[in-house]
Amino acid sequence: MLDLFLYGVFPYVALALALVGGLWRYFRDRFSFSAFSSQLLENRSLFWGSVPWHYGIVILLVGHLIGWLIPAGVAAFNAVPLRLYILEITALGLGLLALVGIAILLYRRAVNPRVRAAGTAMDVVLVVLLLAQAALGVYTAVFVRWGSWWYISNAVPYLNSLLVLNPQIQYATSLPLLTQLHVLNAFLLVAVFPFSRLIHVFTYPITYLWRPYINVIWYRRSRN
Ligand code: HEM
Repeated sequence: MLDLFLYGVFPYVALALALVGGLWRYFRDRFSFSAFSSQLLENRSLFWGSVPWHYGIVILLVGHLIGWLIPAGVAAFNAVPLRLYILEITALGLGLLALVGIAILLYRRAVNPRVRAAGTAMDVVLVVLLLAQAALGVYTAVFVRWGSWWYISNAVPYLNSLLVLNPQIQYATSLPLLTQLHVLNAFLLVAVFPFSRLIHVFTYPITYLWRPYINVIWYRRSRN
């Protein structure tokens, strides 16, 4: 019963919260879509945390997405053991990069009084959830071999079953406990998305690609 709620109902609750919460925030206060950067308060440890965290996690999430979207391609790639090892070692390297990065960001938030004063309780909750997600991911990569292989036989059918509104929870409940927590924590992150700084993901200045040119005109008297 609990499993049914956690894997069959909670993902939809999380998604609904993300959608409704995101729209609510957009229409109520769209200028709050921001990372609320604390770079001006402290830059050094921000750099050493933020850069590895973002490079690690963004590439890994693209990897999660590729595995979901083209599982047959990933399975074919992994059919040669050497390629499987290279993929797994690369993923592990990126996972460790992200883990160290987010740990530095949490440490910075805990010890720097200026950053602490400018932050909110939700900022701390978010960073703790992200740290847990990265740690559970790295745990899975190390102890539940080979993730990029069974992701295709377990995670993909589970995620697809959610998409077609027919949750096949056995694909998730048959995973080891800490890996199950990796999946559940992912949905928790989806749920807190619009209520936290994670919303800044949507503020990437992608519209720069198609917005009209800005004409910058000097406004000063000519000398003659
Ligand atoms: C918020 C969403 C998520 C984040 C931020 C995230 C993050 C991570 C990280 C940091 C790793 C470590 C990578 C490594 O060291 O190899 C990882 C591994 C993994 N994740 Fe996720 N994850 C997310 C969602 C999910 C979901 C929903 C699933 C499955 C349903 C999943 C399945 C896996 C698997 C199977 C691995 C092990 C990959 C391997 O062995 O290389 N993740 N994840």
